[in-house]
Amino acid sequence: MGKVAVGVAVIGTAAVVAAAALLVRQRMKSSGRWACARALVKEFEEKCGTPDARLKQIADALTVEMHAGLASEGGSKLKMLISYVDNLPTGDEEGIFYALDLGGTNFRVLRVELGGRERGVVHQEFAEASIPPALMSGSSDALFDYIAEKLAAFVADEERIYEQPAGKERELGFTFSFPVMQNSINSGTLIRWTKGFSIDDAVGQDVVVEITKALKRKGVDMRVAALVNDTIGTLAGGRHSNPDVSVAVILGTGSNAAYVERAQAIPKWHGPLPKSGEMAINMEWGNFRSSHLPLTEYDSAMDAESLNPGEQIFEKLISGMYLGEVLRRVLLRLAEETCFFGDEVPAKLKSPFILRTPEMSAMHHDTSADLKVVDDKLRSILEISHTSLKKRRVVVELCDITASRGARLAAAGIFGVLKKTGKDVVKDNGEKTIIAMDGGLFEHYTEYRKCLEKTVFELLGDTTGSSVVFQHYNDGSGIGAALLAASHSLYLEEKL
Ligand code: GLC
Repeated sequence: MGKVAVGVAVIGTAAVVAAAALLVRQRMKSSGRWACARALVKEFEEKCGTPDARLKQIADALTVEMHAGLASEGGSKLKMLISYVDNLPTGDEEGIFYALDLGGTNFRVLRVELGGRERGVVHQEFAEASIPPALMSGSSDALFDYIAEKLAAFVADEERIYEQPAGKERELGFTFSFPVMQNSINSGTLIRWTKGFSIDDAVGQDVVVEITKALKRKGVDMRVAALVNDTIGTLAGGRHSNPDVSVAVILGTGSNAAYVERAQAIPKWHGPLPKSGEMAINMEWGNFRSSHLPLTEYDSAMDAESLNPGEQIFEKLISGMYLGEVLRRVLLRLAEETCFFGDEVPAKLKSPFILRTPEMSAMHHDTSADLKVVDDKLRSILEISHTSLKKRRVVVELCDITASRGARLAAAGIFGVLKKTGKDVVKDNGEKTIIAMDGGLFEHYTEYRKCLEKTVFELLGDTTGSSVVFQHYNDGSGIGAALLAASHSLYLEEKL
């Protein structure tokens, strides 16, 4: 071999050795990164742990808070608000009533024709609109004017087909799904906003006075006959179709529950004892908090940066507004600490609330062999491309951890309510307990729903589990509000 040839061979060997060394380093680096990523996921999973024993402690803590909230105003983080609904619909309700359903970024206007015992809900029409984000933190007048305007358009439109009898005002059931301290069935002041709303001048105001003023400004002649929370509306709507409904749970943007309580078990109720002996209670369980809740650093950071730090802790663990955001935070940490999505942290991943729960749900339910939906969502929402199948599997795993924690905690909440009302044990008379459910999370996130139902049945045990039934009432809260407007109508006497 000539000198040149030897030199080339030496250089060649050196290059091969160097390249091999680089490869080993890179491999070590990437396997080290992978190990770090796995460790991070495992740690998150452990911190989210909800073994049955812990769920039972949470349910017990909830029942203790329920008692405290019923005993005195401000006695607990659970407001246990008195709804003034002491008679749930019987089926006799008749007439045409309106409902306005405001609880999140969308609201609905409904017209419901009730046909009494024989005909039930004869007909319903609705219009839907979204609340422009600017109005969620603007002024009270701006929000209520916007809603009144939509209602005015709805009424104007129907005037072509339906004429309101002369001398009779239209009557409305207003589902306002925020914490309200009621003073009667059709008045109540807003305690505080939740679910991303923050309109300071509305807090402490009577919601019915505000909407009535806005309706006047927009020339709509309408009387608010009932002001209800969506849980109370769902309870009423559910009861109308099934007398065994005694609990209602909303799992949507926010989460909350209502149930029928014995009036005598409400020490803070100083009004006359209702004839029925019962009162529907809006728990506002979103604000529940307990040392048993499995909170992680991601939850604490999300809470600290939220519009309502320290509030709605249970809601922030279980409801649709927050699940996707928790997932985003975990993915961001993976990207920052383990270069999970490449050397650069994807810019979009830093944007709060960019990953919505419906997208998370779509990824969680991806059944394709190569997790195509996960790939699509990562690309379209977060601008992350070229992920390996292995990494996409981690994303699905994180969806599962976050959603299962939420669903199992919501199940503990339901178990707590059943315990408080003595419905966690089988009745000899074969009585059934129907839980009226509504909300987009329950309706669309199948894995969440399945996990929730399975956990409630596990906690109840086989015998009692079989007496509890979950029933989805789509838009039960709107119909429920119309039904309650009917039972509190000004013209009720005339019908008797
Ligand atoms: C939030 C509201 C509550 C409502 C729930 C579901 O928790 O505070 O009033 O019922 O969301 O919409």
